[in-house]
Amino acid sequence: MSSLQDLPLWVSEAKKSIESASTLEELKSARITHSGDKSPIALASRALGSMASDERASVGKVIGDAKSAVAQMIAERTQVLEDQRDARVLLEEVVDITLPATRSHRGGLHPITILKNEINDFFIAQGYSVAEGPELEAEWLNFDALNIPADHPARTMQDTFFVEPLEAHLVLRTHTSPVQIRTMLENQPPIYVICPGRTFRADELDATHTPVFHQVEGLVVDRGITMAHLKGTLDLFARKMFGEEAKTRLRPSFFPFTEPSAEVDVFFNGRWIEWGGCGMVNTKVLAACGIDSDEFSGFAFGMGLERTLMVRHGITDMHDIVEGDLRFSRAFGIGL
Ligand code: PHE
Repeated sequence: MSSLQDLPLWVSEAKKSIESASTLEELKSARITHSGDKSPIALASRALGSMASDERASVGKVIGDAKSAVAQMIAERTQVLEDQRDARVLLEEVVDITLPATRSHRGGLHPITILKNEINDFFIAQGYSVAEGPELEAEWLNFDALNIPADHPARTMQDTFFVEPLEAHLVLRTHTSPVQIRTMLENQPPIYVICPGRTFRADELDATHTPVFHQVEGLVVDRGITMAHLKGTLDLFARKMFGEEAKTRLRPSFFPFTEPSAEVDVFFNGRWIEWGGCGMVNTKVLAACGIDSDEFSGFAFGMGLERTLMVRHGITDMHDIVEGDLRFSRAFGIGL
């Protein structure tokens, strides 16, 4: 077998290409070339079958040694390249647990909602219920039942959004007072409710106005309710909103649904600030709701939530409240 003379050459070629394989892929093709089925060593090994048996033993040993030498080289190189790959993967896929995390922020409540919840909790603790009503309201409940007749200036005073078709007599409620009417129509006194909600007036958005705003109104109807109860309730409420130093002052005013009526000012940060409206529920309103005003009397008050928030936090631009910029809202916490 003349070609057997080349055996050392095959082995040294195998050694060269195995040692120069710098990746497992290159090593794989070196293995196929030098120890696969069609490699010179494998072909020589197959030719053993046609040899005489004495010759076969000695040649077989030489070929076998060459085969195992190549196998050994492949195994060693495989180990080296696998170690290199593992070390590289460890480096490439390393996780630096000291890096600052990119976390998504949890959602939070809007400052107006946080304030609304705070007010609800305060009144619930005193035994009030929270009443809500529709934002698209019957004109009769928003005005007539509140003693605001069709030609009353208050209808235009409140810059109402009338909703088409006009024959349906629906309006975007201009205040939450219709919720008080709904409550009195559905329940007999004693009534202690707080009515927070969204209200609408045709104002342009500017530093102090917004066409969509929020009010909270309180209504109490019971036996022997007087303005003293109203004043006491407002003072407590003011202290809850503005701190222990806060107090309220009533200035005579007019609302069709209360008689007498007053503006509520709050003393906060050393000065009197207009806060809301209030009064004793007009007996005509009690009558419209089927409540006997000889037996029962009541008080009501109403405040703007935006205004309350602005006064309390020294917010000078309404845009900050309505625009929903997180940089503004975050300062109030998430409220959850
Ligand atoms: N509803 C009145 C308004 O929106 C506020 C108010 C409520 C006044 C209750 C008196 C009593 O202007």
